[in-house]
Amino acid sequence: MKPENETLIRFPSLSSNEAFARSVTAAFAAQMDPTLDELGDVKTAVSEAVTNAIVHAYPDRIGPVTLKLRRLEGNVLEITVKDAGCGIPDIAQARQPMFTTGGAERSGMGLTIMESFMNSLSIRSLPGRGTTVRMRKKLIGRGEAACRP
Ligand SMILES: Nc1ncnc2c1ncn2[C@@H]1O[C@H](COP(=O)(O)OP(=O)(O)O)[C@@H](O)[C@H]1O
Ligand SMILES: [Mg+2]
Repeated sequence: MKPENETLIRFPSLSSNEAFARSVTAAFAAQMDPTLDELGDVKTAVSEAVTNAIVHAYPDRIGPVTLKLRRLEGNVLEITVKDAGCGIPDIAQARQPMFTTGGAERSGMGLTIMESFMNSLSIRSLPGRGTTVRMRKKLIGRGEAACRP
């Protein structure tokens, strides 16, 4: 699917870049005329994905994270977060609500949140090579929402 607009940002897995990724995603999505709820959903989803790259992909080092944003036909926002970290050995298990390898301070709900706040979530991962998380959400937008009864 040919994007109508796109951007690609690469940053190190510093925790300060979680807020940066949220802001960049909100700024990119603004052209799609999202509702505040939609904006909140995509910001939460991107922050969960970037946090996973920061916390899980590179548990003891700083590594590269790529955030790709695309606007697809039909006002669909696609968010891709890619790392070159440790990878996920069992993706089905990782997607289970409350599954975490992060210990007591992690809820294990990040992937579940991404799945419920977005329309689709796909995960590709190779242990030792890295993980790519791709999410899509159709933004109904403020214009159309205002016309609903
Ligand atoms: N980018 C990633 N790299 C390596 N492992 C990951 C990554 N994202 C998720 N995981 C694995 O999937 C598990 C579940 O992730 P998530 O649902 O976000 O919960 P949490 O981050 O609270 O553990 C993590 O505990 C981790 O084992
Ligand atoms: Mg998480």
